[in-house]
Amino acid sequence: MGLEIVKELAAAGQHVLLGTRNIARGQAAITQLGAANVDPIQLDVADDNSVQAAATQIKDQCGRLDCLINNAGIALDNYEAPSTIPVATIRKDFDVNFFGLITVTQAMLPLLKLAPSAKIINVSSAVGSLTLASDATTSIYQHSAVGYQASKTAVNMFTVDLANELSDTTVTVNAVNPGWVDTSFAGGGGDKTVQEGVVRTVELALLATNDITGTFSDTQGIVPW
Ligand SMILES: NC(=O)c1ccc[n+]([C@@H]2O[C@H](COP(=O)([O-])OP(=O)(O)OC[C@H]3O[C@@H](n4cnc5c(N)ncnc54)[C@H](OP(=O)(O)O)[C@@H]3O)[C@@H](O)[C@H]2O)c1
Repeated sequence: MGLEIVKELAAAGQHVLLGTRNIARGQAAITQLGAANVDPIQLDVADDNSVQAAATQIKDQCGRLDCLINNAGIALDNYEAPSTIPVATIRKDFDVNFFGLITVTQAMLPLLKLAPSAKIINVSSAVGSLTLASDATTSIYQHSAVGYQASKTAVNMFTVDLANELSDTTVTVNAVNPGWVDTSFAGGGGDKTVQEGVVRTVELALLATNDITGTFSDTQGIVPW
């Protein structure tokens, strides 16, 4: 989905920085897109040095950041019982999905505050919704990936707390549920196309007004926490 988000924001005329762990792979993806207004930036969200270097590079080359989309994510557990899943697996999910997201956000926040109006969009998931996970009438109730799910629940809490902290600034913070999207992530089984999966994220990113904050939403509206 990250690449599709980059493609659509570039098509809308934005200068987009595509975070990539491997610059050569990132550059190859950009070349394939054929967009002139996209640049790669080395970024491993689980590596503090990489994140700090990316923030310095953005400050030096762009001077500010208008929108941060925290899209990187992994799911190392799948249908493992919460009673027996190795804690090490859960930690790895958190290292990228939660601690990585916070590391990037904290590093980029000074640059976002330099923009006249800025957005932080956290790509979360409906499987992180405690309300849906405890409702036996939903498909989320059947889901069992406690490391991944809890990391997204934690992302939601970070979204709320940071939105509250920044409520008197020009920086908004929102979480998005892409739905079950047909990427390698969903094992090729998602019921949404990649284009459908990025709709809400791109919509929020391009919203001319910037008065929505502290929400968790998808294309249907508000998702329960
Ligand atoms: N697909 C779904 O059904 C679904 C549903 C709900 C939420 N989501 C969320 O949507 C987001 C995008 O997922 P996707 O479906 O597009 O899966 P994907 O194709 O596996 O994409 C995940 C991306 O995260 C990047 N990444 C992983 N670890 C990273 C790290 N340490 N530093 C920087 N980048 C890293 C990957 O980079 P490489 O390309 O280098 O591996 C990849 O580009 C994730 O946050 C996921 O949790 C997906």
